[in-house]
Amino acid sequence: MTERLLVLLAGEVIGHLERRTESDDPTFSYTARYVSVGDVALSAKLPLRGEVHPTGKVKPFLFGLLPENAQARAASAARYGVHMDDAFGLLAGIGWDCAGAVQFCREEDLAELRNRTGDHRPISETQIADRIRELIGGEPSWTMPGEHWSLGGQQEKFALARINGEWHTAHGSSATTHIFKPGIKELHHQALIEHVTMRAAASVGVDIAHSTFTRFDDQWAIVVERFDRVVQGEYVQRLHQEDFAQACGRMPEYKYEDRGGPQLTDMMRVAKRETTDLDDARRALADFLIVNLVAGAPDGHSKNISLLRAPDGNRVAPLYDLATGLAYDAENVDRSVALSIGGQRNPSRIRRHQWEKAARTLGLEADLLIERTSMMAEAFPDAFEDSLSELQEVPGIDELRERALPRLKEHSRKVLERL
Ligand SMILES: Nc1ncnc2c1ncn2[C@@H]1O[C@H](COP(=O)(O)OP(=O)(O)OP(=O)(O)O)[C@@H](O)[C@H]1O
Ligand SMILES: [Mg+2]
Repeated sequence: MTERLLVLLAGEVIGHLERRTESDDPTFSYTARYVSVGDVALSAKLPLRGEVHPTGKVKPFLFGLLPENAQARAASAARYGVHMDDAFGLLAGIGWDCAGAVQFCREEDLAELRNRTGDHRPISETQIADRIRELIGGEPSWTMPGEHWSLGGQQEKFALARINGEWHTAHGSSATTHIFKPGIKELHHQALIEHVTMRAAASVGVDIAHSTFTRFDDQWAIVVERFDRVVQGEYVQRLHQEDFAQACGRMPEYKYEDRGGPQLTDMMRVAKRETTDLDDARRALADFLIVNLVAGAPDGHSKNISLLRAPDGNRVAPLYDLATGLAYDAENVDRSVALSIGGQRNPSRIRRHQWEKAARTLGLEADLLIERTSMMAEAFPDAFEDSLSELQEVPGIDELRERALPRLKEHSRKVLERL
């Protein structure tokens, strides 16, 4: 029997997924109405046309919305009685609030999904602390009963809404506005490092999501403001986005360039076709390359950069999920960048020649790119130190300063030397 899942964008039904049996991967079609009046495509791989988009094009987009963490996916799968590799079944359960403006629901749930908009329930500081503790303790589930949000990525996380200055859980189809991450368990102070790196990046001029490092009772987490949400009083508007793995049609397991993921050339191809202001996109991709190198951040893969899709145009979204690896000893982390610069991932081989090559791919003047790299490399260690100083009474600050700062300074000196 044919099974359908409705697809909504910014609250309106714009199409549906369809499959014949439970083991089939679904196809996707826009409604005839959305093809004629719609202005935002779901994905670069799913252009706004009146055709049935085949499963091969649909799958990377769907999987890109789901947690990559197997435990978290298995827990949601168990809750909804579906297989953990069944994206259709999973999204019917947890696809009511996703990255971007997309939502999924079964036809019979549409009325509930629409009615429940605005069902935000207050959550206390102690309850938030409990949730952080549960995640750290290895509880597999990321969502609680009644919550239907889904976010990609490997790390433990949960999402809440900040309405009128108070934290709320988002039930039914209500939107979340912030992402909470306690940090990677195996790495000391990881969430703190992510926050400090992101604030330092912002202060050297990178457009990056706003974060705080916040205490809830005795628990700490990085709290990241979602750039795909606009809060107006109690109403939360969704803006659409997709990451570059989705836009390049790659499954999440192919997010890293060295494991078959998109290269800068592929990302530029997407930028040329999809963005409204190409020069702006060139500079944003350049900043992604530069800041990952300068910060010594090893995880700048294609799911850590996104495209925002709005009726008035598409652009590269603010960056997110940026954390230096330099606080850790080299045996625990790979010092290479995830996305090669002029064909090189090893920082010691990224020299003027590689920047010149990258500049050609980006379509930017080499001098401009080199000048920007030089500016950021020079400013970054001080920015990191300033961002540490802004935090008071945070556990781990002194240790982080001691471990990361000398290495960041040394790293910057070498980046500059090679230019
Ligand atoms: N500030 C933000 N605004 C909107 N969406 C975001 C934001 N930060 C992250 N996201 C979305 O949530 C997803 C997961 O976030 P994030 O990359 O921080 O998680 P992660 O689990 O640490 O990822 P990774 O597997 O790369 O370590 C992202 O891929 C992106 O789609
Ligand atoms: Mg990520």
